[in-house]
Amino acid sequence: MADGTDQKSSNQMWGGRFASGPSAIMEEINASIGFDKKLYAQDIRGSMAHAAMLASKGIISPEDKDKITDGLNTILSEIEAGSFEFSRKLEDIHMNIEARLATLIGTAAGRLHTARSRNDQVALDFRLWVKEELQKTEGMLTALIAAFLDRAEENADTVMPGFTHLQTAQPVTFGHHCMAYVEMFGRDRARVRHAIEHMDESPIGAAALAGTGYPIDRHMTAKALGFREPTRNSIDTVSDRDFALEFLSIASICATHLSRLAEEIVIWSTPQFGFIRLSDAFSTGSSIMPQKKNPDAAELVRAKTGRINGSLIALLTVMKGLPLAYSKDMQEDKEQVFDAAESLELAIAAMTGMIRDLEVRKDRMRAAAGSGYSTATDLADWLVREAGLPFRDAHHVTGNAVALAEKKGCDLADLSLEELQAIHPGITKGVFDVLSVEASVASRVSFGGTAPSEVKKQIAWWRGRN
Ligand code: ARG
Repeated sequence: MADGTDQKSSNQMWGGRFASGPSAIMEEINASIGFDKKLYAQDIRGSMAHAAMLASKGIISPEDKDKITDGLNTILSEIEAGSFEFSRKLEDIHMNIEARLATLIGTAAGRLHTARSRNDQVALDFRLWVKEELQKTEGMLTALIAAFLDRAEENADTVMPGFTHLQTAQPVTFGHHCMAYVEMFGRDRARVRHAIEHMDESPIGAAALAGTGYPIDRHMTAKALGFREPTRNSIDTVSDRDFALEFLSIASICATHLSRLAEEIVIWSTPQFGFIRLSDAFSTGSSIMPQKKNPDAAELVRAKTGRINGSLIALLTVMKGLPLAYSKDMQEDKEQVFDAAESLELAIAAMTGMIRDLEVRKDRMRAAAGSGYSTATDLADWLVREAGLPFRDAHHVTGNAVALAEKKGCDLADLSLEELQAIHPGITKGVFDVLSVEASVASRVSFGGTAPSEVKKQIAWWRGRN
């Protein structure tokens, strides 16, 4: 039957040598239509470009090309209207569309598959899809970066504790901390742009694996489909899925950045830290504990990272043992990429919303910045600068001061001059100028440092690069 739905008949597209159709289990394991229908628009676009090229090279007639184009346009509207009937017996999106084309326009449909194979067809469709997804990701990362730049600008001199080992280390500004994420997501975006360049080569015309004897013009189809140029090696073209792996690698790295941010949001929004308040739009309540406001969106962003990393490992594992060229194993590439793409989009969008909406609790950050002897390094640096001590000695003297403050249960700045002089006679009252958290951050003017003046330079640099 033309639509291939007769259980006993062999496959319409490739069943010439087969006496009967596949078993039900074979059909189930073989079919990809359940997920690769997502590629319908790319498949139709690719077929239109291919048909136009075939006609321009005299391989098919202009009339057949017109029929094919009209038929494909009809199919596009049918799919978009939801009236297209996908059949699992027709395996995948390529054969579903071609079978419908045959029903619509008759024999001309059979000429579309001249000088191509499903191997270069799927490589084309999937590459187009991944390229478009990366373009979308690029835009979403730009929005996330913009949200961070706004928060950084408002908080260029908001003092908070900086941490190492999640222990108070030195005072920093919240603006500086935000700009750290701008750097990370900026690198993710650069990786996205680079990957788009990598995959900007058109697979169509590689045919099954060896190229074709028809006088095709691969530069023409490449141009029509918005690629920079055609791929150079037909075997590689149908063999590799490194463009998908590149997408998944980038997605995993980006998700890892998002996950670390999510973790900070979870910590910062606890009553114990209280550095931020999440907006109602990005948190949930508890059904039993009325006081609670949970950072579910951040937690789910953190969890989606596991899922995205899993997709990368899954596809790496699928690909690692395959001899060249195409093997059906590669059909397993799509679900991983589709799932990771959906997760990453959601994660970036949720994070952009959280960053845009969150309330920064400057008073809480300031209070925490001043506790935990966060200006101890400033005291040591002062001893080096003003009292001429070697840094190692200054470190030791400062340690004694911290121990005294700890014993007294006060901050370094609360120790009296006499107490400090008892620890080291070279200390003068000028030391109190560096013991405040504001003085500490203002002094960190090295390139890339936390001083508000530096943070403002970092913001200006990024503003010029969106
Ligand atoms: N559905 C297949 C895939 O996703 C299309 C390519 C099939 N090619 C073949 N020689 N059986 O990989």
